Amino acid sequence: MTFLRIDHVTKQFGSLQVVKGVSIEATKGEFVVFVGPSGCGKSTLLRMIAGLEETSEGSISIDGEDLTHADPADRHVAMVFQSYALFPHMSVFDNIAFGMQINKVPKAEIKARVAEAARILQIEPLLDRRPKQLSGGQRQRVAIGRAIVRKPKIFLFDEPLSNLDAELRTQMRVEIAKIHREIGATMIYVTHDQVEAMTLADRIVVLRGGLVEQIGTPIDLYDNPANLFVAGFIGSPRMTLLSGTVESSSAHGIQVACPALSRPQSIAGPFARLPEAGSPVTLGLRPETIRIDAANPVFSARVEITENLGGSTLIYAVTQDGTALIVPAQERTSVRSGDTLPLAFSTAPHVFDAEGKNLRLP
Ligand SMILES: Nc1ncnc2c1ncn2[C@@H]1O[C@H](COP(=O)(O)OP(=O)(O)OP(=O)(O)O)[C@@H](O)[C@H]1O
Ligand SMILES: [Mg+2]
Repeated sequence: MTFLRIDHVTKQFGSLQVVKGVSIEATKGEFVVFVGPSGCGKSTLLRMIAGLEETSEGSISIDGEDLTHADPADRHVAMVFQSYALFPHMSVFDNIAFGMQINKVPKAEIKARVAEAARILQIEPLLDRRPKQLSGGQRQRVAIGRAIVRKPKIFLFDEPLSNLDAELRTQMRVEIAKIHREIGATMIYVTHDQVEAMTLADRIVVLRGGLVEQIGTPIDLYDNPANLFVAGFIGSPRMTLLSGTVESSSAHGIQVACPALSRPQSIAGPFARLPEAGSPVTLGLRPETIRIDAANPVFSARVEITENLGGSTLIYAVTQDGTALIVPAQERTSVRSGDTLPLAFSTAPHVFDAEGKNLRLP
């Protein structure tokens, strides 16, 4: 059942429309991640859900109640920001308890709720410290603690981990997943981090220029991107894109010629729409579907550099028509810069039309 409903919402700053009609639904307990390029309206959407920003058109409801124009305090949502926004002169305990103290929650209950949040976040030994005596990760935990004690209907996170170093980020990502599992709350989470989006989300919303490009589970978006934009945005290393032309097209599939490939490729359907012979298309290959194949190569690429990551290697190469691609190799490899790699692909490529729409159905 829908718990959060964002319905045809727009946001206008003066004459500038930055959110252009967005509809998103989330069920109770769902973890929804917003991704998209800088300036696409992610923070603005969160701020509209929180009531920190007026909604220009459309409606926002939580738990069946229309809250489009409600006061932030009446929405029962809690927002956690990238800058922790802690009070420097207050102890960790008081930072977490502050909202409840203002609302005259009985002392015993405040104590119990802070203790519970501190247990979940493993910050019990830090309650008497001031923010400046904490590490970045500990400060972020306090900021999350302040949200937890409010028992919000929805948690809103705006890039909460982007101030942390790589190791701490990974650790906090796992912590957030555990918190979500333990308290089962609905969470809306904005991030630029591919791994955070893929691992935390029940569903990912890909935004561009104030519009939704696609909504789906991480695997959905990875396996079946609706268009070139989503294909390029989700997945790291990126999808390899080869431009080509449809040579022939029949009910059984299409034949595509690409300057990068040594011979035309037959690609079986099903297709949403069969592209006509002569029309330009772009073939898309996820890195793990490209393999080194000396016996039966379909194309070749010259190695530019290799990145040895210890357990695996990334090979950066360029095809004969100049298309850059990345080939992951599971084991350590003897491939060197300047080598020519014989390549093949192990699954049918995606086929994008001239407008970037993915024509091949799953
Ligand atoms: N108060 C404001 N007045 C005018 N324009 C604004 C205001 N706040 C945001 N904008 C504009 O709205 C657009 C969306 O901003 P928003 O902060 O939602 O982007 P974002 O997706 O969160 O980007 P980032 O990934 O960089 O945080 C941007 O073009 C921004 O400049
Ligand atoms: Mg933002």
